[in-house]
Amino acid sequence: MRKAGRSAAAVLERLCAFVEPGMSTLEIDEEGGRVMKEFGVKSACKGYRSGHRIFPSFTCLSVNDEVVHGIGVQERTLKDGDVISVDVCIRQDGFIGDNCRTIGVGRVTPEVLNLLKITEESLYLGLVQALHKRRVGDVSQAVQKHVEAAGYAVITNFVGHGVGRSLHEDPQIPNFGKAGSGPQFRKGMAVCIEPMVNMKNSQIRMAKDGWTALAVDGMPSAHFEHTLLVDELSPEILTLPESASDSASFLAEKLRNIPSLSVA
Ligand code: MF3
Ligand code: CO
Repeated sequence: MRKAGRSAAAVLERLCAFVEPGMSTLEIDEEGGRVMKEFGVKSACKGYRSGHRIFPSFTCLSVNDEVVHGIGVQERTLKDGDVISVDVCIRQDGFIGDNCRTIGVGRVTPEVLNLLKITEESLYLGLVQALHKRRVGDVSQAVQKHVEAAGYAVITNFVGHGVGRSLHEDPQIPNFGKAGSGPQFRKGMAVCIEPMVNMKNSQIRMAKDGWTALAVDGMPSAHFEHTLLVDELSPEILTLPESASDSASFLAEKLRNIPSLSVA
């Protein structure tokens, strides 16, 4: 899991640095495929089955009002001021690493930057609940509270999940719910916590491609995700960016920057 997580983080890092205005999402996805090959890992998205549908691209690339599971296509070109959620999910030696980040393309409005900031912060607040071995509902409530205090809406159609040899394992980890409810996190669990946040309304609809979830409010949407190993009380984020020295200081630093009002 550590190896897969490190690779997933490295691919995500490379891909986010690659993104530029004028590129098509197909170009970005193809670069994702190349980088995965370079790292000797396989996409866990490509070939993923849901009913009779098979996910066609290496990565999930969701632009602006696309919430999750966007497909890389030639026709979708990035322009200055867009946001793109880059979701990298790989398999290495039989194990999954899954992480996502929403980034701005060129210059993005302060309103949209705030959406990204709040969504990312809600991920860290959720991670803390899991690593302290609280209950799933404690993660859900921490995420929802932070998001709604900022006036945004959490997506309810998609949830975080346990992870291991399969991409989606039990338990489901909703980004909404009641503190103290649900299963308790235990030593040895690996989970993906992944808040997905819309600016106005949590409602989504499916695009014609059968995969892409779209925000009905038509506004930009954000998605941040890490894979966490719940083990000792010290955090172990398996998809830690290479730039971070260790999970504990990474998380402490991120939490320090969140206004105390929203942590209380
Ligand atoms: N991080 C995404 C998730 O957990 C990866 C989905 S892969 C896909 O749902 F093939 F379903 F798109
Ligand atoms: Co996931």
